[in-house]
Amino acid sequence: MKINLSNIKKSKKILDSNDCIGIPTETVYGLAGNAYSDKAVSRIFELKKRPKNNPLIVHYISIDMLKNDCEINNNFKKLYKKFCPGPITFILKLKKSSHISKYVSNNKNTLAVRFPKHLVTRKLLSVLDYPLAAPSANISNSISSVSKEDVKDEFGNKVKFVLNGGRSSIGLESTIVSLIKKPEVLRLGGVEIKKINKILKKKMIFNSKNIKVKAPGQNKFHYSPGIPIKLNVKIPKKNDAYILIEKRKTSYKNYYYLTKNKNLKEAAKNLYKVLRMIKNKNYPSISVEKIPNHGFGEAINERLYKASKLK
Ligand code: TXA
Ligand code: MG
Repeated sequence: MKINLSNIKKSKKILDSNDCIGIPTETVYGLAGNAYSDKAVSRIFELKKRPKNNPLIVHYISIDMLKNDCEINNNFKKLYKKFCPGPITFILKLKKSSHISKYVSNNKNTLAVRFPKHLVTRKLLSVLDYPLAAPSANISNSISSVSKEDVKDEFGNKVKFVLNGGRSSIGLESTIVSLIKKPEVLRLGGVEIKKINKILKKKMIFNSKNIKVKAPGQNKFHYSPGIPIKLNVKIPKKNDAYILIEKRKTSYKNYYYLTKNKNLKEAAKNLYKVLRMIKNKNYPSISVEKIPNHGFGEAINERLYKASKLK
């Protein structure tokens, strides 16, 4: 994608004035603001209607910049080398001398950090002299955005500007790994857990039930289209939207394919897009056919399970 430099300039101007914009990343779009500015960070929480105790991820362009704010360790170096820039977030110790707004991490001494791969956002980060705090660009607990139009659908004109970067290529949030003590996966996402295990020579598994709420985003009721979702459904109710991953002989207009040949990476990319499409069509509920629980399927099932827990 060609980078539109006047859009980068416009974004910088808004961010320099401590306001927020939508930014593209390869995982999902973010709602971004200067991570060193209390004003910008407060505005993010306000726009997202996000509880103040749910900390934000901060996006960096380089390790050099990260070193101003966080302690780095060997596990970080190994994972950075293999996966960055890319869809992985690290929880690290915050340095006392850091200038990160205390609102980012709710006064805690840890920070979630990420190096996005999307070239438009890398260009933007390279012209800023601060990192960007950016949670997913959706109202709290709603469906994440994977395009500029989705961000508009969530926030309307409340967000001044959305930097266009096309459709997010991964379509699911980053994998979160805590590197504070023993490495621990706090959220499944764009990098499969087995690849992280290979680099760290570990056998971590993800079991959301075992994790005390370290990341409040792990709470249930997340990623929700606001209508009931039933999982592992073989025969859907007549009026339901039906989400599928394998092509049927006959297809009905309430059938929504994440993929037609069980390609789970493709399914992940289409998940939020399909959920948003269904949400905007007034179905009473959603049925989902069984999705294999391996590779990206595990992350998809995790999102759908949470989305199925209506508030
Ligand atoms: O792919 C992504 O990670 C996207 C893009 C925009 O970068 N961002 C994203 O942010 O998903 P958000 O805010 O929707 O999810 C961040 C998750 C939340 O569950 C939050 O609780 C957790 O990261 N988190 C943030 N800081 C943390 C910390 N210090 N310790 C543990 N969990 C943390
Ligand atoms: Mg989110």
